Amino acid sequence: AYVITEPCINCKYTHCVSVCPVDAFREGPNFLAIDPYECIDCDACVPECPVEAIYPDDEIPLEWEHYIELNDRLSEQWADRHINITADEMPEAEAWAEKEDKTSLLQE
Ligand code: F3S
Repeated sequence: AYVITEPCINCKYTHCVSVCPVDAFREGPNFLAIDPYECIDCDACVPECPVEAIYPDDEIPLEWEHYIELNDRLSEQWADRHINITADEMPEAEAWAEKEDKTSLLQE
């Protein structure tokens, strides 16, 4: 499955959701998660993300490997929060796109 990682936090551009053929995205307050049981590994979302937050689970940078479990858990927690239409990014997304070490800011 594909996995959303740290760069998405506080950006949430949502360009990824409208190209998903299986409606695999779930929305939290400042992050999206992909349901690994819905994802069909089609790769469509990857080039859509302006901050390169999406990786196949076997190519995730080491420091973000825990996002595999996180997408699994949060997509279940947010099971009724489907998102498949691109919306406005978060306020100040552009500034947050430049920042690192955002994991502690993830809101559930
Ligand atoms: Fe997040 Fe990128 Fe999608 S910032 S909402 S993974 S387009």
